[in-house]
Amino acid sequence: MKKISIIYWSGTGNTEKMAELISEGAVSSDTKVNLLNVSSATIEDVTGADVIALGCSAMGDEVLEEGEMEPFVESIQDKLSGKNVALFGSYGWGDGQWMRDWKERMENSNAILINDGLMVNGEPDGEGIKECKELGKKLASL
Ligand SMILES: Cc1cc2nc3c(=O)[nH]c(=O)nc-3n(C[C@H](O)[C@H](O)[C@H](O)COP(=O)(O)O)c2cc1C
Repeated sequence: MKKISIIYWSGTGNTEKMAELISEGAVSSDTKVNLLNVSSATIEDVTGADVIALGCSAMGDEVLEEGEMEPFVESIQDKLSGKNVALFGSYGWGDGQWMRDWKERMENSNAILINDGLMVNGEPDGEGIKECKELGKKLASL
């Protein structure tokens, strides 16, 4: 059984909705999906998983949310070498710099990045919903 942890932070629910859609797409007879708000996630949810999807909206000035998500990402950064990692998050007015920076951090941790960082503007609808479900399927197929 493949273990997939989907760990996210979301202020107004947009990234949370993405996480739920990714989770839906990842469910199969062969997967155990663990969908977690970062406030209840532990390092073991990362180290014990075969595939990890991390989600956070663009906050501050193109950074991860600083109260919970940033410290969590910092705490797992040296545990990601050789791990399959996907990134996702919702944004507003920016050009995705927060996601590019996050990807670079994950690459520097020698994680195996399995997507380009799925970004959805605002709340996922239409194409965004489809992309989230497809990412979930991809996580399950690894
Ligand atoms: C305090 C704050 C800072 C934000 N900073 C950015 C930013 O730097 N770039 C951007 O594109 N959007 C920014 N946004 C917009 C959010 O990323 C956007 O509303 C997103 O859909 C929120 O998703 P969430 O509900 O999952 O938190 C910011 C929003 C807030 C409330």
